[in-house]
Amino acid sequence: MTDAMAQQAQVPDTGRIIDHWRGGAQHLPADAEAAKAFCAPDPGLPHVHHTLQEFVGRAVQVVAEQGVNQFLLLGAGTPTPGNVHEILPGARVLYTDIDAANIASGSEILATTPGVEYTYCDATDLATLDQEMMDRVLDPTAPIGIVLTGVTVSLDDDAVHRTLSGIFDWASRGSYLVVDFGGEALASFPASKEMVLDQAGNPLHPRGPHQIYPLLGRWQVTSDGVGPVDTWRKPGPQPDKVFMYGCVAYKP
Ligand SMILES: C[S@@+](CC[C@H](N)C(=O)[O-])C[C@H]1O[C@@H](n2cnc3c(N)ncnc32)[C@H](O)[C@@H]1O
Repeated sequence: MTDAMAQQAQVPDTGRIIDHWRGGAQHLPADAEAAKAFCAPDPGLPHVHHTLQEFVGRAVQVVAEQGVNQFLLLGAGTPTPGNVHEILPGARVLYTDIDAANIASGSEILATTPGVEYTYCDATDLATLDQEMMDRVLDPTAPIGIVLTGVTVSLDDDAVHRTLSGIFDWASRGSYLVVDFGGEALASFPASKEMVLDQAGNPLHPRGPHQIYPLLGRWQVTSDGVGPVDTWRKPGPQPDKVFMYGCVAYKP
């Protein structure tokens, strides 16, 4: 546990709850308790977060194969084991979030990792990204792999469209977007209304692929399409219920 985490009040935090589900060490007893209580109605929930992280791993590898070696994570939460800088050692990675606790603990976790930093950025307004930090870690003139997971589920359609459009305008040509969306299964999830994924207390927004494609606007979805994160570029039976969809898209 980092010093920053130890100083925090015993209030469960989304990023650290997900860290608990993923078997990490960056969480407090209050987070572990909340994690257990939260998934009591559906013990499959921690598995959903494993599949999301595995999707991100496969997706950033696909992006790296296109020659992209720098990544910006928006709404990064806690940089749990298996995160982008571990999957792509040597890549420059800037993690960002709006949550001060995540920024503080993430910065401590990454303090000794060269080329990897954690700072503030509101994903809905990339003008909030600290330019000095940006320039230190990433080259804004070269293609960037942008990862946005666990965020759109809390935004309504207008906000998602605006956010993805804002990221498109900000990104250099040849950049890639790795993004997920809450799937239809969330609609019937008994704990959805109190879901820790939605720290601000906003309602969740479950969506199917036909609702997701229009939200991507000018982003060009790769031939893998929008699919359940479980089976995106991973052969296997389709899940009977979809908690999360994901895709990779690029800016031509
Ligand atoms: C469910 S967690 C997802 C964490 C991580 N991306 C993952 O997929 O496991 C959502 C994170 O997004 C952050 N967040 C919510 N709204 C945001 C915004 N407008 N800009 C940046 N981060 C945001 C929260 O603070 C939280 O850390």
